[in-house]
Amino acid sequence: MNILVTGGCGFIGNALVRLLVADGHLVGNVDKLTYAASPAALLDLDDHPRYRFWQTDISDRHALGRILEELRPEAIFHLAAESHVDRSIEGPRPFVETNVLGTYTLLETVRTHLSTLNELQQPKFRLIHISTDEVFGSIPEGEYAEETRRYDPSSPYAATKAAADHLVRAWSRTYGLPTIVCNCSNNYGPWQFPEKLMPLMIIKALKGQELPIFGDGLQVRDWIHVDDHVAALLAIMRQGEPGASYNISAKDECTNIALVSAICDRLDAIAGPLSSGLPRLELVRHVADRPGHDRRYGLSAERLRQDLGWQPTRRLKSSLDDIIDWYLEHETWWQPLMKRPDPISRKGAR
Ligand SMILES: NC(=O)c1ccc[n+]([C@@H]2O[C@H](COP(=O)([O-])OP(=O)(O)OC[C@H]3O[C@@H](n4cnc5c(N)ncnc54)[C@H](O)[C@@H]3O)[C@@H](O)[C@H]2O)c1
Repeated sequence: MNILVTGGCGFIGNALVRLLVADGHLVGNVDKLTYAASPAALLDLDDHPRYRFWQTDISDRHALGRILEELRPEAIFHLAAESHVDRSIEGPRPFVETNVLGTYTLLETVRTHLSTLNELQQPKFRLIHISTDEVFGSIPEGEYAEETRRYDPSSPYAATKAAADHLVRAWSRTYGLPTIVCNCSNNYGPWQFPEKLMPLMIIKALKGQELPIFGDGLQVRDWIHVDDHVAALLAIMRQGEPGASYNISAKDECTNIALVSAICDRLDAIAGPLSSGLPRLELVRHVADRPGHDRRYGLSAERLRQDLGWQPTRRLKSSLDDIIDWYLEHETWWQPLMKRPDPISRKGAR
């Protein structure tokens, strides 16, 4: 199949692009290459006969239209987004521009593209929109949000993702676009931009720098390996119901402080304690909580498990050592990124 991925140079996008190419598809990648992009993750595909790249903003309707004419995709995965909650609090505008208006532009361009497909191609076409568990807001202990739960976003990031989800569903109901919305929990894995909790804490702990933790650190996040996420996306492309939504979660909950503690213990074990002789956990500094910080996320992925037979293959506890090792081995990638001037003052969990 010919498949277009938006945001394919991002953390989840590059894992998806590699999976789709390995699965035998011709994959086009549209990415604006913002600060968060990691083109290095796809260097090995540069000359691959089944990979194309366009440095393009999804808000550029003419450019997007030309790409769709050229690639003639039978499926589109939409991942391009501004994705960091703290940045959305400091400056929400790019979030509205890309996550809301960019999604609108993509939907309109796809509507035109769909009208050029023949009667055999049209029913098979899918637009798969990648969204987040954050659209549901904080979930009380013991509850797991199902796809039908009322949206209740807390941050500007979550609100723009919720708006995009609503646009996608409206374009399905009103214009008959065969869309599927996927809401996934917190991803971990290689190539995550080092402003997000896990890589940031690994790098800071390695360097012996302070580890800022929002509030008491007892916020619960629901973790999934990025490879399990993209495997779910592939299953959804093959068997997902057009017009439906699917939650993607490994139901693997961990508090932020427990995660940071596990990272510190592992680094102490492989790199030794700090030069002061103290364990790295002593680097933790509790800072003022993020405004509107959701206490807990928890998703039910029963629909995905029962209808499509998807199962996560990894647990956070047994994967963490490998992830830490990966970041230690890829210092040449993240070191220059850490030296860039950073306009945001808040830093912590996604
Ligand atoms: N990371 C997570 O844990 C997580 C969880 C659930 C859902 N999501 C969603 O998955 C998607 C991907 O997340 P990620 O963590 O890989 O994000 P990321 O920030 O790592 O990557 C985003 C990519 O989109 C590109 N991009 C941004 N604006 C663009 C524009 N206007 N036009 C074209 N490209 C643009 C960037 O250059 C970057 O390569 C996002 O939609 C996000 O909301 C992420």
